[in-house]
Amino acid sequence: MVPVMVEKMLSAGAVHKQRHAVCQDLSGKVLEVGFGSGLNISHYPEAVTGIAAVEPSDRGWEMSRERRSISPLPYERIGLDGQDIAADDASFDDALITFSLCTIPDPDRALREVRRLLRPGGRLFFLEHGLSPVEKVATWQRRLDPMERRLAGGCELSRDIPAMVRRAGFEIDSIEEIDLPGPAVMRPWAHGFRGHASVAPA
Ligand SMILES: C[S@@+](CC[C@H](N)C(=O)[O-])C[C@H]1O[C@@H](n2cnc3c(N)ncnc32)[C@H](O)[C@@H]1O
Repeated sequence: MVPVMVEKMLSAGAVHKQRHAVCQDLSGKVLEVGFGSGLNISHYPEAVTGIAAVEPSDRGWEMSRERRSISPLPYERIGLDGQDIAADDASFDDALITFSLCTIPDPDRALREVRRLLRPGGRLFFLEHGLSPVEKVATWQRRLDPMERRLAGGCELSRDIPAMVRRAGFEIDSIEEIDLPGPAVMRPWAHGFRGHASVAPA
């Protein structure tokens, strides 16, 4: 029930608006970690020249086939694990992660990989759900984490996304906290962050 509702939330119109907003400034060769079923494909702007996807799920990659086939961009699945990506340092212009930092077992490690793979000046664009600033909601998120982990492929509701991004050595250039629409019961799933970050100077 919960994963079905979450899946529904991820492809709802309001979420697609957020996907559109987070993708609009992407350019060049883009690394997308947690590519899933390719729900961002329709939002890549013209400035993007190709997508290197990291996605462990064969089913997700297969589900993206049709979307990829009608997109003008080249797609390559370059890896299965965002925590360990076999690509050269500084080989991507930008990176995109949407609704995946909640699920990747060690998101700090994945973010450090992204930082390694971005060229100087490259940016990480992110759209994620995570820890609510409302204590009552945050308490529920922590309470629900064990169930969510079991039912939603390792997803956790209470991850502090901005803190993670900073911990990995990024400077957040822009961030907006969002609350996805939905019934009150879905609030633990609905708090999100959309923004972009660049590698912090050493
Ligand atoms: C909730 S889905 C989001 C998919 C997609 N990014 C979207 O916005 O619709 C989480 C995704 O993270 C992927 N994932 C899980 N562990 C991962 C890992 N170690 N490295 C990369 N992606 C991972 C899952 O396979 C899944 O596609």
